[in-house]
Amino acid sequence: MNQPLLSPPSGPLQVPLTAPTAAEVPPKSFAPPLQFSLVIPTYNERGNVAKIVAQLARLLDGFIPGGYELILVDDDSPDRTWQVAQDLTETYPQLRVMRRQQERGLSSAVIRGWQVARGEILGVIDADLQHPPEVLLKLLQATLDGADLAAASRHVEGGGVSDWSIVRRFLSRGAQMLGLMVCPAVVGRVSDPMSGYFMVRRSAIAGPHLNPVGYKILLEVIGRGNIDQIAEVGYVFQERESGESKVTWKQYVEYLGHLARLRSRGRIGRLQQKLPQQMPVKRFIRYSLVGLSGVLVDMAVLYLLSEGAGLALTRSKIVAAEVAILNNFLWNDAWTFADMAQHQKGWSTRFKRLLKFNVICLTGLVMGVLLLNVFYNLVFGQNLKYLANLLAIVPVAVWNFWINLKLSWRVTAVKEG
Ligand code: GDD
Ligand code: MN
Repeated sequence: MNQPLLSPPSGPLQVPLTAPTAAEVPPKSFAPPLQFSLVIPTYNERGNVAKIVAQLARLLDGFIPGGYELILVDDDSPDRTWQVAQDLTETYPQLRVMRRQQERGLSSAVIRGWQVARGEILGVIDADLQHPPEVLLKLLQATLDGADLAAASRHVEGGGVSDWSIVRRFLSRGAQMLGLMVCPAVVGRVSDPMSGYFMVRRSAIAGPHLNPVGYKILLEVIGRGNIDQIAEVGYVFQERESGESKVTWKQYVEYLGHLARLRSRGRIGRLQQKLPQQMPVKRFIRYSLVGLSGVLVDMAVLYLLSEGAGLALTRSKIVAAEVAILNNFLWNDAWTFADMAQHQKGWSTRFKRLLKFNVICLTGLVMGVLLLNVFYNLVFGQNLKYLANLLAIVPVAVWNFWINLKLSWRVTAVKEG
């Protein structure tokens, strides 16, 4: 006999501190508390639902039998995904289905699912099998071992994407880079802030009114939750087997608005207190020493070209900076980030790191050239050229370190074949 549909909660998007009792939320068969509730947000996923539910049930029955539930939250899909799912509840009593007709959106679907969940650990996974279910057990283990948040990441060891187009890859990384600028205290805490595959301890997310937009529910959890320990598990983002992605430009625009909103004083103030633990000071000192060698190379080449060869200032600066970038990459790869680089051997991955390093440093170069001209021409009235250059170099060095740490040396091993 099919289980009744869950009635969608209304009101603020707020996870309760204690799990609702079985009397409050059907079915009565499961006595709370459960260890784990996994929300599966769906929109037009009828071709995937049976597969994902069967795979999740098999995995979780072997890991925490009777201690978990699956909550599928469907936004009234035209392909009636909720109906397909409800028909599965007879075979899988641990599956509960919610059909939302008043609200829409991936992030709010996840939170509405967490609002009726009875687990102490709350998770989310996509229905389309692009998030490999077996990674779940590692995430669950990390949370049981004490992590407040365990996120599947494409950008740590064992992570990657199958064959995303260059455009999607660029958009995803570009969005991450922007995020690191607008809201480093949130985006900088995980290597894959775009991940939609993670789990969080109820106590770490319960209470605050969540206000997510679009797809990036993880940002909302990090930005508004009380998250101390974060664990990351590498996974390779798979190809879809049926249906198609609902990501449009709208999600990217919403993402930026979301970041700007998260950057409110209170939240960032609290988050920034956590940041020093994330700031790898020793590594930054090495980076700065390498940067110093780069300054000497930059100055020497600038001198040789602008005084020795009589080349124009900007052209000399561009060549000098590029030579310095090369110098810095070699030292950083062999010393500052050696521990991360050794997990990404091979000339092609090294060349990719050099490219990323170059793009990031060139962005810094543009900032450096602008700052040099501002200081030299506007502030020092065309005097103190080298002091102007030094003042231009410092902010750029901090920028380069932070973005390179998060993007260049973070592992993004593309799945071969
Ligand atoms: N309830 C509900 N409402 N579910 C939705 C909606 C919605 O409006 N839009 C999408 N979903 C469901 C889809 O059915 C799927 O199960 C999941 O959310 C992801 O949607 P996709 O459209 O397949 O997203 P994607 O594959 O491009 O990106 C996914 O993976 C990225 C990397 O982890 C998403 O999870 C992204 O958030 C994530 O960054
Ligand atoms: Mn997908």
